[in-house]
Amino acid sequence: MDGYDPASLLKAATTLREGELVVFPTETVYGLGADAFNPIAVAKIFELKKRPHFDPLIVHIAHMQSVEKLVLNVPAQARRLMERFWPGPLTIIMEKQGMVPDIVTAGLKTVGVRMPSHPVALALIKALGRPVAAPSANPFGYMSPTKAGHVARMFADRVPLILDGGPSTHGIESTVVSVRGDTVYVHRYGAVPLEEIERVVGDLQEKEKGSICEAPGELPYHYAPHARLVIIRSQEDIRTSESGFLAFKNPEREPLSKHVRVLSAEGDLREAAAHFFSHLIELDQEGVDVIYAERVPEIGLGRAIMERLRKAAQKHTARA
Ligand code: TXA
Ligand code: MG
Repeated sequence: MDGYDPASLLKAATTLREGELVVFPTETVYGLGADAFNPIAVAKIFELKKRPHFDPLIVHIAHMQSVEKLVLNVPAQARRLMERFWPGPLTIIMEKQGMVPDIVTAGLKTVGVRMPSHPVALALIKALGRPVAAPSANPFGYMSPTKAGHVARMFADRVPLILDGGPSTHGIESTVVSVRGDTVYVHRYGAVPLEEIERVVGDLQEKEKGSICEAPGELPYHYAPHARLVIIRSQEDIRTSESGFLAFKNPEREPLSKHVRVLSAEGDLREAAAHFFSHLIELDQEGVDVIYAERVPEIGLGRAIMERLRKAAQKHTARA
């Protein structure tokens, strides 16, 4: 359904109110939403995605005041981040209030909150009049969809309603941080580069890798295509023509692979991030056995891209 059509929006809000799921666009990736205060509806997200129950969901809001109903208090550093980056692709983990259902936070004492900037997402949350809990709208472990058509194919006819809001502009998920006292920890690299966050709150701490209960979603692999993914330095490392090639910029020579996607002709990281999942999903849907992905520079959004590539490559190393 056209997400910009008021009748579709109304229908989607009613669907959420009745405890059903709605797929909606955000500026990062598409989300699979449920009324955050309806635990049975939220349970349907886990069922449909086949997502483990220990992996908490992000709660999406449309008004700054809504954060007060979800968290015990807003630390000063969190307030600065909200003022600078909301609405937008930053998720902030804070101590939750008792009202937030445990299934949303996987039993944790914290909740991740974000105010998306996509007009259709904001309109949907406002029409429902309540926060919307939503993960990315992909089956667990697969790549996040950045177009309505991706979701339709991933879930076939098992999704009740999809609001189409066009391609997601950022194309990778939100950056996830938590705030404890004055310290800000990074949980996931994403659409807001760390350099920009540090300009607002000073130095960031990497979340300790061992502290898994702090971020249950930090599984060793994630975001993976069905094809085997191999990270390469240059196109010289491609071994077979029956392969996909995810190039960072325009290749200097004709690549050996028959299936080629270029993230950004001129090597612009923002453009590369915006195309990242959609190109990878499309290469995977072309049915190749192996996808060669060219490294990107690890600065700004390049870090988020490389983190996702490494996790995707890890899946096959882990299973091999
Ligand atoms: O851009 C996005 O963030 C998209 C759109 C739909 O908003 N959502 C998304 O959700 O990527 P999901 O569920 O695919 O990833 C959320 C990540 C997970 O790794 C989860 O473990 C982490 O955020 N997370 C959420 N709440 C948390 C909490 N209370 N403590 C630690 N990690 C949390
Ligand atoms: Mg996800």
